[in-house]
Amino acid sequence: MKNNLKPFKYTFLDILIHAIFFTIYGMVKYLPSPIGDWMRYGVLKCFVKKMGSVRIYEGFTVRYPYSLTIGNNVSLNEWGYIDAPGGVEIGDKVRIGHSISIISSTHNYSRTDIPIYEQGLSAGKITIEDGVWIGCNVTILSGVTIGSNSIIGANSVVTKDIPTYSIAVGSPARVTKNRIVDIQEKKSD
Ligand SMILES: CC(C)(COP(=O)(O)OP(=O)(O)OC[C@H]1O[C@@H](n2cnc3c(N)ncnc32)[C@H](O)[C@@H]1OP(=O)(O)O)[C@@H](O)C(=O)NCCC(=O)NCCS
Repeated sequence: MKNNLKPFKYTFLDILIHAIFFTIYGMVKYLPSPIGDWMRYGVLKCFVKKMGSVRIYEGFTVRYPYSLTIGNNVSLNEWGYIDAPGGVEIGDKVRIGHSISIISSTHNYSRTDIPIYEQGLSAGKITIEDGVWIGCNVTILSGVTIGSNSIIGANSVVTKDIPTYSIAVGSPARVTKNRIVDIQEKKSD
């Protein structure tokens, strides 16, 4: 397990806030665009840590909204899932494709004498910096930073930090290109 994760336990207050949040957000979660997008925004805005201008498409799920920060000019496409107990920070001008998972927590599993679900949880912050484009079906795991202006290809699983201006693809996601070196320079050849 990564060493930048911290033990995490949910409290009665977490359960209470989620009961209220899920009940209200559940009423607007599946409403069609564009009116549904504005209603989802309105509800989520009351529960998140901080949120600028964000378009939230149908079926988008958020857990631990009070640990989620989102900047300006961001779109969260259909059927995405953000689990934010470790903290999730999304910068400005970020595009997030449909059916993604951003998962900032994990089960502990070091012991073999008791079931995994009895071993507690750990969580680590996920940061998605300005100008990033996340393709559809991508999964981003806890404790990871995706550097500004990078692209994560469709279906990738991000397990480690991605440097700025990268293109990364695959499971686990590996950097295949630097957008400045490999694309800008190619254009000027
Ligand atoms: C990653 C992406 C942007 C293309 O990047 P690129 O590096 O410029 O693409 P290229 O076509 O030059 O491909 C380079 C290599 O990466 C591979 N590759 C491209 N996308 C890949 C992906 N998602 N997963 C695995 N491999 C991928 C290509 O097959 C190619 O491999 P090769 O060198 O062995 O032939 C694009 O493939 C992608 O995944 N876009 C996301 C689309 C999407 O999800 N849209 C909806 C959400 S808004």
